Amino acid sequence: MGNGIAQVAARAGYSVVMRDVKDEFLQRGLQAIDRSLQRDVDKELLSTEEKQSIIERIKSTTELEALSEASFVVEAVTENLSVKTEIFSALDRITPPDAILASNTSSISITRLGAATERPDKVIGMHFMNPVPVMKLVEVIRGLATSNETYERVRSLSEKLGKTALDCNDSPGFVSNRVLLPMINEAIFTLHEGVATRESIDGIMKLGMNHPMGPLQLADFIGLDVCLAILNVLYDGLGDSKYRACPLLKRYVDAGWLGKKTGRGFYEY
Ligand code: CAA
Repeated sequence: MGNGIAQVAARAGYSVVMRDVKDEFLQRGLQAIDRSLQRDVDKELLSTEEKQSIIERIKSTTELEALSEASFVVEAVTENLSVKTEIFSALDRITPPDAILASNTSSISITRLGAATERPDKVIGMHFMNPVPVMKLVEVIRGLATSNETYERVRSLSEKLGKTALDCNDSPGFVSNRVLLPMINEAIFTLHEGVATRESIDGIMKLGMNHPMGPLQLADFIGLDVCLAILNVLYDGLGDSKYRACPLLKRYVDAGWLGKKTGRGFYEY
């Protein structure tokens, strides 16, 4: 999702530093940005020159120190608490003291990420939805120590990015994934129990509920490892067995069938 966030920020006129651990990941991100902007060029919503200047506003790097002058950081690393706390603690050392450190986490506690820094008042959740250039929502999550000033800056930035910010308190899965993931998990249970085929399950939800994608296709699109990680956060954080992940989801993740990104999930890509 990092490249989508970089794209919308650069399109809104900001200078962006996009950082990843390997150059090949950065190249893949830049290609995704190019393809996404090209859709708007083809629809004559953007000129080729505008597309070029958006791309030129994005610098890519593998060095975390390149963020030393950033006034606003959006972290979008893997959904793993120890990886995220390590990054937040490093960002706290590297970035200017008044910089806001936002996380695009889909379920990890913002309060815990804030506690990994000396500036928990400036740590906040800024949860974008995939595909970032298309989806209008930013779910804004306030940690226990997040200040009103930080919240207001995030609200105003979200608007400048063309998004609608809706807020919630820090609770496992926030609102979006507390509601979405049990539905996806239940769809996987219906497949697991042989209630219906993947095409029927997805078709029923698309045609019957007007969802743009069926839940199994959406799970592939989100990433099955991400779905499992979110369900585990709900299960551990809320202590209710209704959030237990379906064994079929665990088996797919064990097999490395993680959805669209690995070429195979509930569907083949
Ligand atoms: N960049 C730019 N534009 C894009 C794009 C991208 N990456 N992907 C799609 N689009 C645009 C298309 O150009 C098209 O625009 P027009 O209508 O102006 O022509 C529009 O989006 C629709 O695209 P398509 O016609 O190709 O395909 P579609 O109608 O099937 O829509 C979709 C694709 C928007 C992804 C739609 O299927 C959808 O809304 N799916 C559900 C998405 C969703 O639920 N996202 C949330 C996932 S959960 C999450 O992200 C958070 C989490 O924590 C797990």
